[in-house]
Amino acid sequence: MRFSEILTGAALVVLASSQTPTPYYDSTSGISYSSVTQANGVTFRVALPVAVTPADAILQVIAPVKYGWCGFAWGGHMINNPLSVSWPTGATTGQKSIVSSRMALGYTAVPSPYPNATYTPIKGPAANSTHWTLTTRCQGCTIWSSSDGDFNIQNETEAVFAYACSSTPPVTPSSNTSDIQVHEEFGIWGHDLSAAKNASFSSWVKAAGNASVASRFWA
Ligand code: HEM
Ligand SMILES: *[C@@H]1O[C@H](CO)[C@@H](O)[C@H](O)[C@H]1NC(C)=O
Ligand SMILES: *[C@@H]1O[C@H](CO)[C@@H](O)[C@H](O)[C@H]1NC(C)=O
Ligand SMILES: *[C@@H]1O[C@H](CO)[C@@H](O)[C@H](O)[C@H]1NC(C)=O
Ligand SMILES: *[C@@H]1O[C@H](CO)[C@@H](O)[C@H](O)[C@H]1NC(C)=O
Ligand SMILES: *[C@@H]1O[C@H](CO)[C@@H](O)[C@H](O)[C@H]1NC(C)=O
Ligand SMILES: *[C@@H]1O[C@H](CO)[C@@H](O)[C@H](O)[C@H]1NC(C)=O
Repeated sequence: MRFSEILTGAALVVLASSQTPTPYYDSTSGISYSSVTQANGVTFRVALPVAVTPADAILQVIAPVKYGWCGFAWGGHMINNPLSVSWPTGATTGQKSIVSSRMALGYTAVPSPYPNATYTPIKGPAANSTHWTLTTRCQGCTIWSSSDGDFNIQNETEAVFAYACSSTPPVTPSSNTSDIQVHEEFGIWGHDLSAAKNASFSSWVKAAGNASVASRFWA
């Protein structure tokens, strides 16, 4: 972990006020997650295998509809780590949310597409009038290398994660390469991974869909 990198200014305050992750069983999918709901009402849930390298991950995001997009940072800060950015597509049938694989190399540009991470839909709770939801498998989110070093969060018992959310919808909500506006909010927290690691993980990812079968997951 690299707390020293983020113990600056506002980030320290955010860390101190972050919520504690708790185990959560999603009866829609049968998946157990380590789940945290931020003070802004956005929930982030992570599931991992027990001991696999490289590890896939399952990410679930549930956000109030006032958010145009929310991003999840696997390394606990904006730059040099995989970002899973998601938003509602605006569709009333079919695919109601989309995930965009990004990585930021700086703080002044929209984070770029990040080809090393690939996503496939997983069954999860449906979006409704108050919240949009994303449930996805990520291959390539738990291991990366940058000028900050080599990272493998599967090796950690506690990971530092971060999020950012914007009230402004992406320019082209149906596209995972859409331009986005900067966030108004972000948070950083330490996330206990013991409750995220589950021996049933491999059976959960077997149920992940590709684009041709995805419609069955978009209730
Ligand atoms: C147009 C796109 C974006 C711009 C221009 C942008 C810009 C910035 C700037 C200037 C900061 C530092 C200023 C501050 O402390 O408030 C920051 C912090 C942060 N951003 Fe972004 N951002 C963008 C997208 C994203 C996305 C997609 C994520 C995904 C999770 C993200 C995550 C964060 C996080 C976690 C922080 C605080 C921790 C850190 O300093 O790394 N940002 N952003
Ligand atoms: C693993 O997942 C199953 C099904 O979601 C759950 O019943 C069980 O409690 C989980 N085990 C651990 C160690 O979290
Ligand atoms: C967008 O989705 C396509 C098709 O699934 C995928 O190949 C591409 O990598 C995705 N791009 C981003 C930025 O997520
Ligand atoms: C919408 O879904 C969220 C997350 O599952 C839930 O907390 C909320 O109560 C639901 N709202 C309605 C109106 O059903
Ligand atoms: C992406 O994958 C390439 C090829 O395996 C690798 O060289 C590069 O370091 C990876 N990028 C990150 C950020 O881990
Ligand atoms: C993670 O653990 C694996 C297996 O023990 C090891 O090979 C690898 O070097 C570790 N990677 C990091 C970045 O700690
Ligand atoms: C998509 O999933 C279907 C059903 O599981 C499978 O038959 C098909 O080969 C998959 N396609 C790709 C491109 O992976």
